[in-house]
Amino acid sequence: MKFNFLSIEPHSFDEIRMELDEASEQTPDFIEILKNHHDYLEESISVLTDVNASVADKQEHLSRFLILLDMHGHAEEETLYRRLISDDAKEARIEGLGGQDVHDVAYLMGDELLALDFTNVWNEQIESKAKVLANLVGNHLKEEEDVKFKVATKQFDAVAFDTLAKEYVIKCIQYLDADLTPPPAVADMLITTRNYREL
Ligand SMILES: [Fe+2]
Repeated sequence: MKFNFLSIEPHSFDEIRMELDEASEQTPDFIEILKNHHDYLEESISVLTDVNASVADKQEHLSRFLILLDMHGHAEEETLYRRLISDDAKEARIEGLGGQDVHDVAYLMGDELLALDFTNVWNEQIESKAKVLANLVGNHLKEEEDVKFKVATKQFDAVAFDTLAKEYVIKCIQYLDADLTPPPAVADMLITTRNYREL
């Protein structure tokens, strides 16, 4: 879904955190909540790929995007991908492994952007890298919705979906809370987000 920023406000972290709290009290539909989180990422992808967006908007959305990518990406790996990778069907295992590879490339680019100090500095190298990352993730989200979620729907039963949904929400809360407590320096931030990841 493409968002027009003249008419739609991106979801704030407070709104997303509140939705997660509500979801944690029920059993949400796993695919629906994953798609919701894709939409939150798309809200920032639209800005990062818009040549007319201001530098301030791009900086703000890149920060927002990296936090949501960290939250959604790691929570998804530790639920959906882990389950796909252990599936009996080769098709599912390949989708899980491939998804992890794309996430790893995206985290690497995110780390490079943090190292370039994009919140204080903005130049064409940073703008270009942010756009490449946004397009990489944008294409990946579409591919997940078109292929990976369908493979999961074919392979997992209702009990597995409910378990994964509950785990996903808990992990999102943990990652978001950790990411919204920023360390003082960028170097520390790199260490914090990496170390928090469950291996
Ligand atoms: Fe995803």
